[in-house]
Amino acid sequence: MEKETIQAHLSFLLFFFAVSFSILACLLFLIHKSERWRWQWWCSCSICKAYVTSSWVSEHRNLCDWYTHLLRSSPTRTIHIHVLRNTVTADPANVEHMLKTNFNNYPKGKPFSAILGDFLGQGIFNVDGDHWMLQRKLAASELGSPVVRAFAMKIVSSEVVQRLLPLLHTAAAEQQQLDLQDVFKRFSFDCICKISFGVDPGCLELSLPMCEFAAAFDRASMLSARRGAAPAPAVWRLKRLLNIGEERELKEAIRMIDLLAEEVIRQRRKLGVSSSNDLLSRFMASIDNDRYLRDIIVSFMLAGRDTIASALTGFFLLLSRHPHVKSSIRHEIDTASSSTKNKNYCSNASLDGIRGMHYVHAALYESMRLFPPVQFDSKFCIGDDMLPDGTNVTKGTRVTYHAYAMGRMEDVWGPDYDEFRPERWLNDGKFVPVSPFKYPVFQGGVRVCVGKEMALMEMKTVIVSVVRNFDLEVVSETVDGSPKFAPGLTATFAGGLPVRVRRREIT
Ligand code: HEM
Repeated sequence: MEKETIQAHLSFLLFFFAVSFSILACLLFLIHKSERWRWQWWCSCSICKAYVTSSWVSEHRNLCDWYTHLLRSSPTRTIHIHVLRNTVTADPANVEHMLKTNFNNYPKGKPFSAILGDFLGQGIFNVDGDHWMLQRKLAASELGSPVVRAFAMKIVSSEVVQRLLPLLHTAAAEQQQLDLQDVFKRFSFDCICKISFGVDPGCLELSLPMCEFAAAFDRASMLSARRGAAPAPAVWRLKRLLNIGEERELKEAIRMIDLLAEEVIRQRRKLGVSSSNDLLSRFMASIDNDRYLRDIIVSFMLAGRDTIASALTGFFLLLSRHPHVKSSIRHEIDTASSSTKNKNYCSNASLDGIRGMHYVHAALYESMRLFPPVQFDSKFCIGDDMLPDGTNVTKGTRVTYHAYAMGRMEDVWGPDYDEFRPERWLNDGKFVPVSPFKYPVFQGGVRVCVGKEMALMEMKTVIVSVVRNFDLEVVSETVDGSPKFAPGLTATFAGGLPVRVRRREIT
């Protein structure tokens, strides 16, 4: 080879290495500087090692049970998962600090929006600032209005009387086994679609397969939650770029959800928005961007379906293990129906009647203490801060309060913390709430759940009607052991809740 040619090759190689090295140096610098990318690749502390290697599974059934164990053992009730750059707390004072006192320092943040962005878009769960404010204002005024509450009560009662009770009657008559979780998912999906969007998907017709859209919802929720649990976000980002594996599945599920949302918007426009009580009509009166409307719809479906189904499933699981609580509920229903001289109390229960059932209310709160539908919730710290327990949190740290663990802390609930005891919520037979920061099941502070009252009405209506008319026997191994949860944004029982249904003679 000629001398000049060799020199040219060498110069090119040197140039190539110099450029590559500069790019690498820039990348490392950016990774070091950027809040989004500054996570620890590896940490040798026992918690991180157990997290990364999943060795915790040898002693705990669920991740939430392991976190509960760690939080109980921590003197401050706060732990750090360094590889996730996540500070997890079960201290009520810390929860109050992040949700109320120093709320502005703990928004959802960009990393959270990125994880859920494809699924939830600009929907209320996934945004801060003006987008959040607008949606919150509209939703709060709508869901707080007495007209809408009465409208929601009417829809829930009709779904109970015309679909849920007949379905249980048929199962009892034909001695069929039912998956109660599946039934509640269908029920709550019908209710939220009718209340929020004015359309009826008819999912509770068991003859139909679980409607495709609802199944797409389950998949999107599960796959989005997996993104959030990955130690290296770069992995799912790369898979999304290449459209492979779980990211491809997620994309397909989201495409299905988009179709449903488009159809909901189309139907609502066709029916006319001006005279309707539903939430979507309200939103459509002030927003004409269909993509934004789609995001709002998806958030409300998620809010109103999975949470309610999860809470009711946990409730009936606990009830099956505590027959004396069932008897006390029946006693309260009988007292209420005899005082109104109304034999058919459940189907005609009024909002006031439901609200006046303190024992049912206490039993529901108690079951959500042990099985909160939203087990944990994360925010991103935007400025260095110190939590009330003395924990330092730096800018860019994810801070999580763990409602599941908080419901199982002896220093919060006393020595009987692991017992299902509705009486702990009653004083002279009247329900007494506790601080939302000690019991953040509906969150608390500035972004407290706006659907709480509606959700309580819906769940109590179901409980009163079902407990009065049926005996449900749980036929799964979860009766003795603690249940196994499936991954998802909302707590879902893996394998559902299979039950046998028996009709009760009401005298
Ligand atoms: C058992 C039932 C329910 C539980 C346990 C529950 C719990 C929660 C929790 C923990 C949050 C905070 C989530 C976050 O910030 O990421 C939340 C927010 C919210 N919930 Fe609920 N929820 C329930 C039912 C409902 C229903 C039926 C609706 C709607 C009709 C609803 C609408 C909302 C909305 C719109 C927000 C967002 C509030 C905001 O960011 O300002 N929820 N809920």
